[in-house]
Amino acid sequence: MTGSHAHGRSDALVFFGATGDLAYKQIFPALAALVARQRLDVPVIGVAKSGWDRDRLIKRARDSLADHEGIEAQAADRLYGLLRYVDGDYADPGTFKALRAELGGARAPLHYLAIPPALFGTVVKGLHESGSADGARVVIEKPFGHDLASAQELNAVLHQVFPETSIFRIDHYLGKEAVLGLLYFRCANSFLEPIWNRAYVDSVQITMAEDFGVAGRGAFYDQTGAIRDVVQNHMLQVLSLVAMEPPAGYGHEDIRDEKAKVLRAIPPLRPSDVIRGQFSGYTDEPGVAKDSAAETFVALRAHVDTWRWGGVPFFIRAGKRLPVTATEVLARLRRPPDANAGRDGDGEANYVRFRLSPDIAISLGARIKAVGETMTGTDVELALHEQPGPAQLAPYDRLLGDAMDGDASRFAREDAVEAAWTVVGSVLGDATPPHRYQPGTWGPEQAASLTARHGGWRDPRSAEAEK
Ligand code: BG6
Repeated sequence: MTGSHAHGRSDALVFFGATGDLAYKQIFPALAALVARQRLDVPVIGVAKSGWDRDRLIKRARDSLADHEGIEAQAADRLYGLLRYVDGDYADPGTFKALRAELGGARAPLHYLAIPPALFGTVVKGLHESGSADGARVVIEKPFGHDLASAQELNAVLHQVFPETSIFRIDHYLGKEAVLGLLYFRCANSFLEPIWNRAYVDSVQITMAEDFGVAGRGAFYDQTGAIRDVVQNHMLQVLSLVAMEPPAGYGHEDIRDEKAKVLRAIPPLRPSDVIRGQFSGYTDEPGVAKDSAAETFVALRAHVDTWRWGGVPFFIRAGKRLPVTATEVLARLRRPPDANAGRDGDGEANYVRFRLSPDIAISLGARIKAVGETMTGTDVELALHEQPGPAQLAPYDRLLGDAMDGDASRFAREDAVEAAWTVVGSVLGDATPPHRYQPGTWGPEQAASLTARHGGWRDPRSAEAEK
């Protein structure tokens, strides 16, 4: 590691892979949104090997923004004015010389590597040797390796040049308004904060359901599967926000320190904790091996061995081609003594539900007396907060702004990434057989057994638990 530490706000933004898909889908719209919020007024330099020039890059940005709603024309024009372009091979020192020249007087650039991880080593070396890494920050995207060993190798490559405090690993779930809102809500409310522990919480379940399939990404997905694609990162990040101790503050490392402790407290999953599924027809998808055993669905049971959570199961299920697209967290509370619930049968236990997407909501499941002569109850759900539609600040917009400011609190830190790989390490690949499920169902029926003694999985579409 040789680069000097980055301080203050970045004074240029460089993005490698400028002509690629990620730039088109996420980066241009996020940059335009940053410009609109007056958060970006420094040179923005795209780098790629496509034989393009600046005009061609601007045209690409125009096409990308035309595909997105809600971008102000004025902000778009200002962004085009900031754009620069450097063309060349990443293995050619000349490319980085040209980049350094384009950076001009910038002393603290932010480099966004929107390129396959296999190229990170080459680009990082080029940045270093051209002097473009000094005082710089680097942003990378998942996958952060495909297991613990490869994640460590990747980190070693980055650490040759960049200190950990200058590395910003994007997990876009951490940029979601509702995910941040979950941590805030559970800590900020005195009716909840004192009961957020094993004495009152029976179980926690996190569902990330998607009604679509692999959406043209078959070749990638087949090497990945649901555990690597969304559990090791998004789901375990959400779990750690549910389970972490309240942070001492909202400073850069306060939240990350507490989250890393949670991940380290999760014993590695055993095959008996995990049900893998694959939807019928998956192996007919383009790019997917005919005999593929990759999972398009996973349901699992984890534990967090801390004083707060000892004995409380944390269930996660995630999958493609499920009945609905929705992500939510449900914390079921323990039942009160028989005096109430027992007498009128099996009502729902109280719960707190956080809907994270596509809409944002927080609700409480409660028992009230049913109208009538008897003292029997009925289940109701009290909406505490509802925010229809997408959040105002899109994840990439928020996260790029954070990285420009040097605020790493909403990025994945090396120790947390590695701890998450340790959790899933022994259930990757064919450690358990994949069960077939029909598209449009909640995965293989075996998944139901995991939660059977804790009220079952809750269907995000209804106030009723699935029976
Ligand atoms: C990505 C996964 O990280 O997250 C995709 O690779 C998944 O498979 C996506 O569909 C979900 O993100 P979101 O924000 O739509 O819930």
